[in-house]
Amino acid sequence: MIKVPFNTITYSGAEIDNMRDAANRGQLSGGGYYSKLCSAFIKDKLSAEAVFLITSCSHALELAASLLNLQPNDEVIIPSYNFVTGASSFVAKGAKIVWADSREDHPNVDIKALDELLTPRTKALVIVHYGGVDAGGAGIRKWCDEHGIVLIEDAAHGYGASDINGKPLGSFGHMSTFSFHDSKNITCGEGGALVINDENLVERAAILYDKGTNRSNFQRGEVSYYEWIDLGASYTLSELNASFLWAQLQAEPSWTKQRKSAWQFYSDQLSGHSLFDVVANEQLNHNAHNFCVRVKNPTHLNICLEYLKNEGIQALTHYRCLHKSAYVAKTSTIHLLPNCEQWENMLIRLPIHNGINNEQLMAVVNALRNFTC
Ligand SMILES: Cc1ncc(COP(=O)(O)O)c(C=O)c1O
Repeated sequence: MIKVPFNTITYSGAEIDNMRDAANRGQLSGGGYYSKLCSAFIKDKLSAEAVFLITSCSHALELAASLLNLQPNDEVIIPSYNFVTGASSFVAKGAKIVWADSREDHPNVDIKALDELLTPRTKALVIVHYGGVDAGGAGIRKWCDEHGIVLIEDAAHGYGASDINGKPLGSFGHMSTFSFHDSKNITCGEGGALVINDENLVERAAILYDKGTNRSNFQRGEVSYYEWIDLGASYTLSELNASFLWAQLQAEPSWTKQRKSAWQFYSDQLSGHSLFDVVANEQLNHNAHNFCVRVKNPTHLNICLEYLKNEGIQALTHYRCLHKSAYVAKTSTIHLLPNCEQWENMLIRLPIHNGINNEQLMAVVNALRNFTC
């Protein structure tokens, strides 16, 4: 029986050469040759004000949360169908979380319901581009600006995807974050980026990124020594990871193309099944990070996962709603967010990765076509 893993890491072939070259250049800590190449490349692609390569998307979110300068009782609207650090990073910096529900037809946040969540204490909105699908639409930045709140795009899944007008995800929030963890379309093992699209945030971001010091002023010869001036942390991605990432950034456009054709194949072959629906990506510019189906009956979720496992296919559910988590239950009342709970109980992610081949795709399609309950 052919085995179909949920994900595998794809190599362009240049990763090890780049790492050797980085070692030969004599700098393995961050900020070296490859770190500069990667951050300049992403900055240019997104027309950003600044890009900081970071040890993970979780740390990028934590740095973004610090930049909000949260005061007691300041609120941040965050989708509950989300990764843990998507919320914990903000709680750690003092935010009161206001949980947002998902859309009924997609795990992305329900933008139409956001007005009801606004209060005079709302400081920021975080949107997650689930599966590399734009969560905000062209109007979301305008909505945030009208209400005087900061928009943070969590584009952990979204590198290489755009909105319907071709504007890259990560380019319209005041800040945005990316993940380059193994599970993402491109990787350097563990890694991430914080993108700053608001010039007013750049100076403090550089200080917090540099352990809370003014080392960048020192490096530019503007001060004669550097010192502790704010509360930062050690966020820098090492040069070894950046050299690996540089190879992946180059390969990304052709990998995204392959991934999207795999996505389309699944979609064409699996539409119209009696027991599940394909979760449609309503616009073309996603990056096929995930391919998801929604079982029509939640009692079929585990039956389907077990069936696929027995067929040699590794399929997975995804997040547990954060608003119902044990940590949140200790401190606040549990709300009802029906769409978010629906995704927790009904969503299945099928195997998709840069190198998935026709035989593997066909094995998944055939198995699911034969799935009965
Ligand atoms: C939406 C979202 N945000 C943030 C993260 C954290 O990414 P990292 O593993 O790079 O910290 C993840 C992880 O998958 C995620 O799904």
